[in-house]
Amino acid sequence: MTSKQIRQKYLNFFKKQGHVIIPSASLIPENDPSSLFTSSGMQPLVPYLTGETHPEGARLTNSQKSFRSGDIEEVGDNRHNTFFEMLGNWSLGDYFKKEQLRWLFEFLIKEIKLDPKRIYATVYSGNKEIGVEQDNESVEIWQELFKEAGIEAMDYDNVEKAGMRDGRIFYYGDERNWWSRSGEPANMPIGEIGGPDSEVFYDLGADLKRHENSKWKNEPCHVNCDCGRFIEIGNSVFIQYIKTKSGFEQLKQKNVDFGGGLERITMVSQKKDNVFETDLFENILEKIKELSGNKNYRDHTRAFEVIADHLKGACFLMGDDKGIAPSNVDQGYIIRRLIRRAVRFGRKLGINNIGWTKEVAEIVISDYEYIYGELKRNKEFILSEMEKEEKKFQKTLEKGEKMIKDEIIDGESAFNLFQTYGYPIEMTIEIAQERNIKLSDDFYKEYNEALKKHQELSRTASAGKFKGGLADSGEETTKLHTAAHLLLESLRRVLGGHVCQRGSNITAERLRFDFNHGEKLSDQEKHKVEDMVNEQINKKLDVTVREMSLEEAKKQGATGVFESKYGEKVKVYTIGKGEDAFSMEICGGPHVKNIGNLGKFKIKKEKSSSAGVRRIKAVLEFC
Ligand code: ALA
Repeated sequence: MTSKQIRQKYLNFFKKQGHVIIPSASLIPENDPSSLFTSSGMQPLVPYLTGETHPEGARLTNSQKSFRSGDIEEVGDNRHNTFFEMLGNWSLGDYFKKEQLRWLFEFLIKEIKLDPKRIYATVYSGNKEIGVEQDNESVEIWQELFKEAGIEAMDYDNVEKAGMRDGRIFYYGDERNWWSRSGEPANMPIGEIGGPDSEVFYDLGADLKRHENSKWKNEPCHVNCDCGRFIEIGNSVFIQYIKTKSGFEQLKQKNVDFGGGLERITMVSQKKDNVFETDLFENILEKIKELSGNKNYRDHTRAFEVIADHLKGACFLMGDDKGIAPSNVDQGYIIRRLIRRAVRFGRKLGINNIGWTKEVAEIVISDYEYIYGELKRNKEFILSEMEKEEKKFQKTLEKGEKMIKDEIIDGESAFNLFQTYGYPIEMTIEIAQERNIKLSDDFYKEYNEALKKHQELSRTASAGKFKGGLADSGEETTKLHTAAHLLLESLRRVLGGHVCQRGSNITAERLRFDFNHGEKLSDQEKHKVEDMVNEQINKKLDVTVREMSLEEAKKQGATGVFESKYGEKVKVYTIGKGEDAFSMEICGGPHVKNIGNLGKFKIKKEKSSSAGVRRIKAVLEFC
């Protein structure tokens, strides 16, 4: 069965069970400042999981384009991709566990004909502290389903220590079998929704000897052990809780959020043990092979896989209708990183001809445009941005290479190459090896010392800049300075955690504040930010200052513009205490002691300052 058939079969199957097929949402989230990318199918549906009615009804299904930047480094391990398609089905307060697990099992063993003997399930072991019990209901359903397939399914706890013991169903805790956008219960912010989940694993077989060859070889192998023998192919999340100030409460409705990676489901259905060996990557790998002068994928798996994954991801991100190009901020930065990393791995395969990434992009587009029409609509944009970025980076590489020509290279020169040309140290080392250039004896020490020196210099520079940013330390200026802290924290809460301060200029009359964000703020966002700042002012919160090491400040979650050096003591200003704690920033001061009489905060202007950087002009009005 081809991936195209599997995707279609899945959607049709759930359509037959009363679901409406909805289109994939954009990879760039709408109204969701909590993340840069859509990384699961439920993300665009959050309002409907919490009670809004969805125009298409209470049973939905789709194939959602998803991107997980956290997996960039994982690519190459047989089962991770940054970009992937997530097959999903949802019950918005409609059906629950019984229907979900049955349909899923039926789809897997009847529709795509997986061998049930290779299928394993996991369930939530419960957590008394949050008042959620072990999921015995799912265990009973799974046992019934396996029994119908002629399998006696034993359930076991403590599998990490005691092993699988011929079991079929295993209990795991918060880390493995609870799902929310922010992970386990303890990590969820107030207002976040989530719940216990039940995952399905497929056994790729002991004969692969993955476990024996892994770093876990002295511990028992189990479905979640990460040696690669078992692969998760789907996750049914029972979203029924919301985190509140006082703990976990039941949502108004019990939802199902299922997600399964098309790449992995296709892989096991096509009896492969690596996602890159499915038809989803066939043409792309073929193209890379051609570009590399017929090198063999099997001999260079990691390079082939990184290139295929990264360029595909970059195509989909740039192919989104939002028109995001490579840049130094936010999503643009991730695109830049993907393309540059692919170019680097291309060099390992001897691919040097300028413009080659575009050729791979054309394959991605022609492979996928039948389902994701936006790739076709934005083809010119994708190709031209890909080419520009590649050329820029190739130039950087050339410059750097010319500089690496002596018989020996020291760490300080390597640092300067990085500093001046953005030339990564690992690439300097690679080139040195290729050309038989020796690294100096203290190469790494020299590199680190140069890096440290640079950090100290820029710290002095930025401390100076910030001082300059504050026109004086008069009372009005100080008030506006404290308001700037409230503003930064409010921007982060309204627009997302990616927001950092990029500069400020404060006089007795107004504050000017630059921060990174890719888009113009809507009127609604501006009002939200203003309201949030004023709400804090009305709470008359105290401002306190403490001294601590930079590590400690970071550990406590302080934000800050200084590139201080490690081990150094910094001042941390906190606004509010306990439940009312609002902002915590590394800063030199000065600040007011209590924010109660700052006046009324008002944004006067919001405009672009430079690419990816916005500027707010704001005042404090006295009422
Ligand atoms: N939202 C669930 C996941 O991403 C299905 O695993």
